[in-house]
Amino acid sequence: MVIKNIAVIMAMMDEAKPLIDNLILTEQFDMFHKQLPFKVFTGKIDNLNVDLIWNGIDSKYNVDNVATQPATLATYLAITNLNPDIIISAGTAGGVAKRGAEIGDIYLSCGVFRYHDRRIPYTNFPEYGVGSYPSVDVSSIARDLNFKLGEVSTGNSLELIERDFEIIESHQSVVKDMEAAAIAWVCRLLGIPMFAVKAIVDLLDGEKATHEQFSEYLSLGSSNLKQAIIDVIAYCKGKTVADLALPR
Ligand code: ADE
Repeated sequence: MVIKNIAVIMAMMDEAKPLIDNLILTEQFDMFHKQLPFKVFTGKIDNLNVDLIWNGIDSKYNVDNVATQPATLATYLAITNLNPDIIISAGTAGGVAKRGAEIGDIYLSCGVFRYHDRRIPYTNFPEYGVGSYPSVDVSSIARDLNFKLGEVSTGNSLELIERDFEIIESHQSVVKDMEAAAIAWVCRLLGIPMFAVKAIVDLLDGEKATHEQFSEYLSLGSSNLKQAIIDVIAYCKGKTVADLALPR
């Protein structure tokens, strides 16, 4: 089946705004329960329908709804209300420099999404905690659009502690974010293909603290991300999910 509807799930308005402005996406009202913070912006690239779901603002703390909890609910609502053929988890992320990541890079996900901060040392729970949720194979997009491919590891902290880094290293993940594995978990439950498009704005093994790098490069990353998402969606035109992989 040719891809027609693409849902892009994003956590921060700073990351989403360049895309909303560039594609002139229009806000759809009354899509979800009125007490929920999520917002939907809709538009088209060629004949493809694009729904951008932004996780909105936490009314108590007045910040964007980042991390896994809102991402899970947003994904469920996107799937049940918007009928997507494929979901993209899009945003900025940290990268591992010693595995080739550089500031400004765009990474597409490969392999599986895992968690690096769900440590549950009891019976079979360790494996459950780490998880393993598949990414669609988008290796042909990466080759043709010249993006890097890497495994994404998700956690609920922007800050990096040593144990989290050890776990990221043990999986040889390259990209660290705060939403993708949660989105992938819902997608696996409901049988919707998904992958991630992530712009690197800080290096886990870099010189400066994560939050300093993050604020320095958020704008560059969001701009690169906007163009990457436009190119990735345009690439999907007339293709099936299977066409996104390199032929074996
Ligand atoms: N988003 C941007 N940089 C990140 C990092 N280092 N960890 C998690 N999410 C991020």
